[in-house]
Amino acid sequence: MTYQDRLLEVLIPADALQQRIAELGAEISRDYAGEELLLVCILKGGVMFLSDLIRHITVPVAMDFMAVSSYGVGARQSSGQVRIEMDLNLSLADRHVILVEDIVDTGHTIAAVLELLQTRSPRSLKVCSLLDKAERREVVVPIHYRGFEIPNKFVFGYGLDLDEHWRNLPFIGVARG
Ligand code: PRP
Repeated sequence: MTYQDRLLEVLIPADALQQRIAELGAEISRDYAGEELLLVCILKGGVMFLSDLIRHITVPVAMDFMAVSSYGVGARQSSGQVRIEMDLNLSLADRHVILVEDIVDTGHTIAAVLELLQTRSPRSLKVCSLLDKAERREVVVPIHYRGFEIPNKFVFGYGLDLDEHWRNLPFIGVARG
């Protein structure tokens, strides 16, 4: 199986992704000028975005990772339930924190993670998501830094998987079927 078998169309080409990520990095760097920042990446989908975004951030920046699950294996619908699979190493106390996500869909994941992390006394806590599938939102969540609003189509590539494959593609594609 190749990714072309599953690809209906390219939604966001690699160069457009990289250009927007550079803009987001510059915007974050301006907003946190004179401060230190902690980027919290939500695995696994956010890892490609984080690794490109962080190269455009010019203030002192640390990173940490957490894993949560909101979808059953192979399922395409959010359950509305979120489980913490792997927690952070670093303390958030008195730090400026940005959550880095590949996509906000129903919003349940980011809502649950925000609620959890707020209890750890960060100095500030914001959300940066590459993709925003706003049409699907079930809970209101803030997205302070947004890469692209996308239509309600099943997308993959650049961190997002189809049954755990194709996260490594440099573009966002729409899945066939
Ligand atoms: C995806 C994505 C978000 C979440 C968004 O993760 O990375 O974390 O779903 O959906 P929601 O807004 O409806 O909660 P997924 O559970 O597919 O895990 P993955 O990143 O490891 O692929």
